[in-house]
Amino acid sequence: MKALLRELNPADLKFIIEKEFNLDFHKFLEQRRLNSFYQKRLREIIRERQKNKPLEYILRKSCFFGLDLYIDERVFIPRPETELLIEAFLEFTEKKKELSVLDIGAGSANIPICIALSRPSFRVFSVDISNLALEVAKKNVSLYKLKNLFLVNSDLVSCFKENSFDIIISNPPYVESFYFQRNSALSFEPKISLDGGEDGLVFVRRILNEANPCLKKEGLLFLEIGYNQKDRVLAYAEGKNYRLLSIIKDYAGIERVVIFKSVKG
Ligand SMILES: C[S@@+](CC[C@H](N)C(=O)[O-])C[C@H]1O[C@@H](n2cnc3c(N)ncnc32)[C@H](O)[C@@H]1O
Repeated sequence: MKALLRELNPADLKFIIEKEFNLDFHKFLEQRRLNSFYQKRLREIIRERQKNKPLEYILRKSCFFGLDLYIDERVFIPRPETELLIEAFLEFTEKKKELSVLDIGAGSANIPICIALSRPSFRVFSVDISNLALEVAKKNVSLYKLKNLFLVNSDLVSCFKENSFDIIISNPPYVESFYFQRNSALSFEPKISLDGGEDGLVFVRRILNEANPCLKKEGLLFLEIGYNQKDRVLAYAEGKNYRLLSIIKDYAGIERVVIFKSVKG
């Protein structure tokens, strides 16, 4: 048993004990024992982990902003840094009622579910170009029985009219193609969810260009960006009728979220 447990890092072990086995992790730490059924399952999980398969895909589960989500290889695995995007959104929308929000790149629907649950008076739309991702997103939306969240297949904002949204939010694909191709840890996730083109900014640039017409006057744009992208994103946004409101750093001190206000005439 001890040898078995050494195969896993503590965070993975905790996730398995709590989310897969539904056991109390502190009790487990005291006893360090599992019955033969759980031991067998643990061996299977370890075998899969040794092939570098992400734990979320093995268990088909992920936890984002305290919410349990169904996850499989059709979608990007939600990352902790994206929780900053949600925190910023909630801070900026405190006391606001009945706003219309668009999330670009639904994936598992982690972002729109958090928003729709936390702001029940908002109407939340979430688009993805991938029908496979939308299948997973639908499953998660139905788990939370949300009536104010609508999933749409769309290439970014292309199926929406001008002046439709108070807020647009996105964690777009922003990994540089060369990094993505060399990093085997990312090879399990859909390429379409990661690949931001040669410089990683293909989708960020498209969103900066295409979001503004869809935003209402003084609407807000919340974007998650990569670790070396802030300066290029701000330079690109210049002269495009946006005013920078805030830049938020992640726990590693990396500028991770940028918030713009639309200042179109
Ligand atoms: C980095 S993932 C983010 C997923 C999820 N929002 C999250 O934060 O975990 C980017 C998502 O954008 C979607 N996507 C890629 N190109 C798109 C496009 N042109 N229009 C809409 N969605 C797109 C991908 O399918 C993927 O689900």
